[in-house]
Amino acid sequence: MDKKEENTEEQVVNPWEVSSSGGKIDYDKLIDKFGCQRFDQSLVDRVQRLTGRPPHVFLRRGVFFAHRDFNEILDAYERGEKFYLYTGRGPSSEALHLGHLIPFMFTKYLQDAFKVPLVIQLTDDEKCMWKNLSVEESQRLARENAKDIIACGFDITKTFIFSDFDYVGGAFYKNMVRVAKCVTYNKVVGIFGFTGEDHIGKVSFPPVQAVPSFPSSFPHLFSGKDNLRCLIPCAIDQDPYFRMTRDVAPRIGYHKPALIESSFFPALQGENGKMSASDPNSAIYVTDSGKVIKNKINKYAFSGGRESVELHRKLGANVEEYGAGRMLTGEVKQRLTQVLTELVERHQTARSAVTDEMVDAFMSVRPLPNMFN
Ligand code: TRP
Repeated sequence: MDKKEENTEEQVVNPWEVSSSGGKIDYDKLIDKFGCQRFDQSLVDRVQRLTGRPPHVFLRRGVFFAHRDFNEILDAYERGEKFYLYTGRGPSSEALHLGHLIPFMFTKYLQDAFKVPLVIQLTDDEKCMWKNLSVEESQRLARENAKDIIACGFDITKTFIFSDFDYVGGAFYKNMVRVAKCVTYNKVVGIFGFTGEDHIGKVSFPPVQAVPSFPSSFPHLFSGKDNLRCLIPCAIDQDPYFRMTRDVAPRIGYHKPALIESSFFPALQGENGKMSASDPNSAIYVTDSGKVIKNKINKYAFSGGRESVELHRKLGANVEEYGAGRMLTGEVKQRLTQVLTELVERHQTARSAVTDEMVDAFMSVRPLPNMFN
């Protein structure tokens, strides 16, 4: 295969870039390449059995499609051992889009269904280093984003939100150093593709995202619970960080964190990209009005519809009623507009009720005595 051909087929998925020049992102290929496991129906059934609730729509519809050792989390849970959840957000923009909400909506369901504590990392340091934001601006964005996260309905008696600039130090920093000593420069270059031109802040960042996977990084929550397991819900682009973490964990005496990983919210233009904050027309933001949502969907959304009504009626497209040719593009877009407008308006109402005092309360370093109830 010559270089050119290779490039046309390339799909790139890493924490900084998601693209596929050869059409849709091939998630099966990604599972093979990363070495994670497929989230199959038997796991969905098991979650339902263990939690006594219907599985979340993101499980039923395969949005969370891959995992690492999730079965072990369930084995432990079945024996009566609880675990904790860890997820995060890099505060790179003022407003979140729908793609950003997916892990948080799903994490909220996991917290309720399993009745477990949750830590949420806001990597203001990461975005300061990658996006050329000042320290102060990244911190401000972290607090703004915390409001959107809180609006997803997390239980304050079970949830600790922290910003790296505020929280890193003490036991957390000790774990960072333990991790850093296990990872060579060649190894991070292999995993993340850093080059000699990248500043050293980038090279030193991965341990920061790694160590919330270890309970001893949060002595105010988990002191004396060094054996507690960690489950990380995230989009699959974050997998490189946790491949590194899982590789290091046993060498420093910790459990490997388990993962449950989602596909990307497709860009409005189609499935070979994800909704991206850097392309406003690719995404629906949680701050968009009903009118903006409607316009974006009508103007940009790729529907898979055929070139003419006749062809569409005859051949159909790719989704149920619509696929059978009984629905037209306009009807599909109308339905989508309705569903997304409801979701966004619900979010806006919830967010407007989040006060600065609530942000302080979620972010205060405190014990959570009822976190397992
Ligand atoms: N790097 C992630 C981002 O840019 C933020 C993050 C930190 C994260 N820790 C995480 C995401 C754990 C998922 C799970 O958004």
